[in-house]
Amino acid sequence: MSPKPKDKPVLRSTRSYGGQGKDGFIHRSWMKSQGLPADAFDGRPVIGICNTWSELTPCNAGLRDVAEHVKRGVWEAGGLPLEFPAMSLGETQMRPTAMLFRNLLAMEVEESIRGNPIDAVVLLGGCDKTTPGQLMGAASVDLPTIVVSSGPMLNGKFRGRDIGSGTDVWRFSEAVRAGTMSTAEFMAAESGMSRTPGTCMTMGSASTMAGLVEAMGLALPFNATAPAVDARRRLIAHDSGRLIVRMAREDLRISKILTRSAFENAVRVLAAIGGSTNAVLHLLALAGRLGVPFELSDFDHLSSGIPLLVDLQPSGRYLMEDLHYAGGLPAVMKELDSLLNAGVPTITGQTLGESYAAAECFNREVIRPLSAPVKPASGIWVLSGNLCPGGAVMKPSAAANELFRHRGRAVVFESIEDLHARIDDPALVVDADSVLVLKGCGPKGYPGMPEVGNMPLPRKLLEQGVKDMVRISDARMSGTAFGTVVLHVSPESAAGGPLAVVRSGDEILLDGPNRRLELLIDAHELKARLAEWQQNQQPSKFTRGYYRLYTEHVTQAERGCDFDFLAGASGSMVERESH
Ligand code: FES
Repeated sequence: MSPKPKDKPVLRSTRSYGGQGKDGFIHRSWMKSQGLPADAFDGRPVIGICNTWSELTPCNAGLRDVAEHVKRGVWEAGGLPLEFPAMSLGETQMRPTAMLFRNLLAMEVEESIRGNPIDAVVLLGGCDKTTPGQLMGAASVDLPTIVVSSGPMLNGKFRGRDIGSGTDVWRFSEAVRAGTMSTAEFMAAESGMSRTPGTCMTMGSASTMAGLVEAMGLALPFNATAPAVDARRRLIAHDSGRLIVRMAREDLRISKILTRSAFENAVRVLAAIGGSTNAVLHLLALAGRLGVPFELSDFDHLSSGIPLLVDLQPSGRYLMEDLHYAGGLPAVMKELDSLLNAGVPTITGQTLGESYAAAECFNREVIRPLSAPVKPASGIWVLSGNLCPGGAVMKPSAAANELFRHRGRAVVFESIEDLHARIDDPALVVDADSVLVLKGCGPKGYPGMPEVGNMPLPRKLLEQGVKDMVRISDARMSGTAFGTVVLHVSPESAAGGPLAVVRSGDEILLDGPNRRLELLIDAHELKARLAEWQQNQQPSKFTRGYYRLYTEHVTQAERGCDFDFLAGASGSMVERESH
């Protein structure tokens, strides 16, 4: 039964729009300049629509249209929709890496929500860092929140076959370097790969985060998979607009949805879909905002035994459009039902289990049954050992089984510039058993922890037919990428982690099944090298602005690379008026 009017909670917007005095005049009058009628301020819920649309973020290009459909739903349900922009982070455009600015977006979103007279918020994001940045900011305010994602692009097409965002870029560029693809063909593939607005249509970081948002109950069913240009994307937006008004009235806050149980579901779904390692950082940072007890090691034990059910690139063959037509994430979650916390609440008022109970699978090649998965083990391996005291991660579903256990000599690159300068040098001392090690690509070192961990293989080995090698770094890897790649080594080299003192020729042991990553040198030698490294440290070159803030306050990978002073929440209350 809906509450009687006298029982309705007082909305926070009432403090701004409900007064009869000077302050109420100021808040309302300027808003009326946009053509809003007096009864727009009659105590109805005010819904902020936080939009990361930008022409510099083509993955989010459809969000202007999506916002209009959210507004229709809000008006229809008796709310007042007010759209506001937030910094957009175009993964393919920003330098040195969009991840450097995720926390800046999170700060902007947090303060925009808190500082404005809104009762609930719809987050419109999509491209990799926009979704987590918005979520982190919203979590620290804790209003009712819904996510509507951009949606994936339609499948890429090239020479009669489907090609996937990112994944085929890595394949094609290695083929060009190996001499098996011409530069003209490479250039032709460029136009066929990205042919509609929307996010990468592989199971990259954007699709992963959209999927996890849906799995955590913070978005409507099919939010992750409905293509950006599909009418159903608009329907999701419209329905989300209606729903957020109800959530505002019921005060159904984000913290009531994003519980520890919801995070556990996210990790299991991450494994089943073969999702991006970037989700590790984003979920850790998000949990830190909410005060949910959740650690790096949780990724390993919660995903252990979860099979890969979705046959999507980069771990498999198909693309997001195929996943949508096959039944979308609801069909995947129904398959996983016995392994999920099905009783958790979602934004609709249904439990998660109820939200996928009627789901059907229409293509068993794309979504496999639990009894016949694509791969029996998926998820994230969290490594430990003397080379990564704070941990490191590896995605076994995207790696070569024969390299899961490997011992080889390090070939060290001190920086990304060093890698580019020498990787194709015919004189480079390297063979297929070598372990490629890259330093200086962590959060502080680059700065921003770029997606360069899947470093290219040496040309001379590609020409010999080598397809994969063990690669280790403090960098991240694109969710669209693949290979036997150890990422997020912590502490990073720029923070004086053992990675900083690895030398070419050192032996390294990777034992994935036993979660070990060891630098096989004497403990005294390691200590001496680290002491020498400390003595040779130079002052930071980042002496001003955001780069200084970032390098002074960013945490290491096992804490999600959030700023140390942003952990936790400050709520939505602002005591003082502006005039
Ligand atoms: Fe934007 Fe992949 S580059 S989603």
